[in-house]
Amino acid sequence: MDHFTGAHDVATILQPDIPVALNRPHLVRAAARFFVSRFPGDILYAVKANPSPWVLQALWDEGVRMFDVASVNECALVRGLFPQAELAFMHPVKSRQAIARAYREHGVRIFALDTLDELEKIRAATDGAQDLTLVVRLRVSNDMAGLKLEAKFGTFGAEAETLLRATRQAARTMGVSFHVGSQCMDPRAWRTAMREASDLLVQAAVVVDIVDVGGGFPSRYPGMNPPPMQTFIDEIERVFDAMPVPMNCRLWAEPGRALVAEATSILARVDLVKGDALYLNDGSYGNLFDATHVKWRYPVRLVRTDGAAPSARVKGFRIYGPTCDSMDTAEGPFELPVDIREGDYVEFGMLGAYGVAMATRFNGYGESLDVSVAEMPCASMFPPVAAPVAAGAVRGGTPLKQR
Ligand SMILES: Cc1ncc(COP(=O)(O)O)c(C=O)c1O
Repeated sequence: MDHFTGAHDVATILQPDIPVALNRPHLVRAAARFFVSRFPGDILYAVKANPSPWVLQALWDEGVRMFDVASVNECALVRGLFPQAELAFMHPVKSRQAIARAYREHGVRIFALDTLDELEKIRAATDGAQDLTLVVRLRVSNDMAGLKLEAKFGTFGAEAETLLRATRQAARTMGVSFHVGSQCMDPRAWRTAMREASDLLVQAAVVVDIVDVGGGFPSRYPGMNPPPMQTFIDEIERVFDAMPVPMNCRLWAEPGRALVAEATSILARVDLVKGDALYLNDGSYGNLFDATHVKWRYPVRLVRTDGAAPSARVKGFRIYGPTCDSMDTAEGPFELPVDIREGDYVEFGMLGAYGVAMATRFNGYGESLDVSVAEMPCASMFPPVAAPVAAGAVRGGTPLKQR
């Protein structure tokens, strides 16, 4: 990746015709350092949040050794980079072919499930393998989450008890997992979920080897100010200590968003201004899926390259992406200078998670350029770190080949 000081240099020097992902590997490292050193268990990175090789490498460099994968392609990606990594196939619904290939070709031994049918599939597709770790996904409340995930997966009540017992008989090593929903704003969500899991384990009379508290750890977005990350970790540790599990029970977490959200912003160009609508070269089929479909609010700022000072007055704009689909739009409102015009760029912050990962090639768009930048993001959940300035490497707007 070419390295720049920040968005303005990228826009001025490259005048990019396609969206640019402004990446900050040092921030992935900082977040990984925080989780690896503070979380009292193992960190499994949820690859779906951002599968870019530079992200995976930064995590690996900081000691993340386990990866939550959800497809055979994600297995192949991580295994190709890190032969020693431990892969956990945490998608509760997999094809028999996917299970068999994960087991045989990619050395996956950890599988999630939430039904008896899936248990049977895993056993059959691995020829009754004796070296599996099976993790039962429980359904828990997502009330405190910005993005709810509870409807699709997870078992509960009497069905959960039956599945826990059957899984215990089938696997030498087993665990329970849940997901409190993405961007969960309140540590008490984990308390409630872990207590619900405890009740189920007692009712089913099942002893587990692993408690996996899932993802959901929050980042800072406009209008969303979660408490410090340490309070989430403290709460999980406190409740885990009181769970009815053996002393050697392992604690896992599967953060996605929190490890990567801050690390990438997206630079999109304005191709037309029509009233209070901005037509951009990026949108819902590109890097801005959540901004448009989930109406997520991202921080924005104008980047102008011709030296003219933008107006100090701002107003709210809606955005349209480059495809012909009328759903390719976000109401925002995105607050930007009133005189924003064609050729200006808009930087959308906090798009390291579920940003580039969601882009499609619909209508021939969706291509982005990757660069790294030193400039800091708008908000951080982690202790400040110095941006990397290799001796003489980042100078007033000179693009430099690094890494
Ligand atoms: C099983 C599982 N684990 C972890 C994650 C990561 O969640 P987050 O990005 O909210 O941390 C997800 C996200 O969908 C998930 O489905």
